[in-house]
Amino acid sequence: MITEGYVSFKFSNSYMLRDITPVTVVVGGFFGDEGKGKVAAYLGLSIKPSVAVRTGSINAGHTVTYRGRTWKLRSIPSAFLHKLCRLYIPAGALISIPVFFNEVREAECDGRVFVDFNTGVITDEHVMRERGDEVMSLIGSTKQGVGAAMADRVRRVLKLARDYGELKNYLRDVALEVNEAVDRGEEVLIEGTQGLYLSLYFGTYPYVTSRDTSASGVLSEVGLGPKKVDDVLVVFKSYVTRVGEGPLPNELSYDDIVKFGFLEKASVTGRVRRAAPFNYELARRAVTINSATQVAITKIDVLFRDAQNVREWGKLPREARKWVEEVEEVLKVPVTLVGTGEEVEAMVDRRKDVFGSLRR
Ligand code: IMP
Ligand code: MG
Repeated sequence: MITEGYVSFKFSNSYMLRDITPVTVVVGGFFGDEGKGKVAAYLGLSIKPSVAVRTGSINAGHTVTYRGRTWKLRSIPSAFLHKLCRLYIPAGALISIPVFFNEVREAECDGRVFVDFNTGVITDEHVMRERGDEVMSLIGSTKQGVGAAMADRVRRVLKLARDYGELKNYLRDVALEVNEAVDRGEEVLIEGTQGLYLSLYFGTYPYVTSRDTSASGVLSEVGLGPKKVDDVLVVFKSYVTRVGEGPLPNELSYDDIVKFGFLEKASVTGRVRRAAPFNYELARRAVTINSATQVAITKIDVLFRDAQNVREWGKLPREARKWVEEVEEVLKVPVTLVGTGEEVEAMVDRRKDVFGSLRR
């Protein structure tokens, strides 16, 4: 009887048949805009998760370019490209109802997209409040109403998804459904937003966003406990950018930004991004605090032009490979994905070489 009990316990959670759980968490390691959207979309097509969750809110724009078409997503998971994937917005996230419906239409995902009963809802009043808030101007907020809505949530006066009739058909207990999917052994992809240095707790306070952007913070938004996750992928860009105010070590002049090809415009606000060279010290701390098991480096084609659109490790320029190996040496974490262009499929995927399979 004891053996039977042990067996049924052991097999009730089918992921226990493997050494690790079937969850991948993707987070940013710098100040956001590392290319998490592209990485999450790529993983969507390669892992083919049955569940994808997008945390955070509409201040974060994740860009997905696939076969000539571009989406700038502010609430829906970037893995929507995988058509068999259920798409979830968790309790800890915040949506704007018009932005949500617009994206459901753009991503053509009606019928497989769900919102937690407790997801927060941003209204025009929150946007107006941030526009008139001096502190928001001082820190360079995107002024999308996210911080104001978070403040209302802490005051226990924010309206949630369950309070809006138009969301009725989308409402689910996302926390429970995601946990059940994990327990059945289904692949689950969790997409964080912004980067560690914009975390309310671990970032450059007060020049930060209104939530914790670390892997633990992201999981808390979903309702996944720490024992359910063994795989954390931290995304870095091959250089550092920052929009808004706050410290940026080794910040480059505008002329140098242009010279090095680092010039970018923010996807939500259209502001020009500040830039600096790749920062090992920031990267190391991000690896530690997120407990990274793998690292992705995007936009390597900006540093090494001949890397553009390359999809095989052996075809990258020698200097590019050397640099990636140097990053691995310093971070003590494998660099499994290397982004070589805008398109989702412009990616060198080393996971089979590193792990022997597509997931850790
Ligand atoms: P807020 O979260 O919109 O109030 O902005 C606070 C700070 O975080 C500002 O410096 C913003 O530029 C920055 N920020 C917020 N969301 C993003 C993002 O998705 N990418 C990059 N920076 C962001
Ligand atoms: Mg962005």
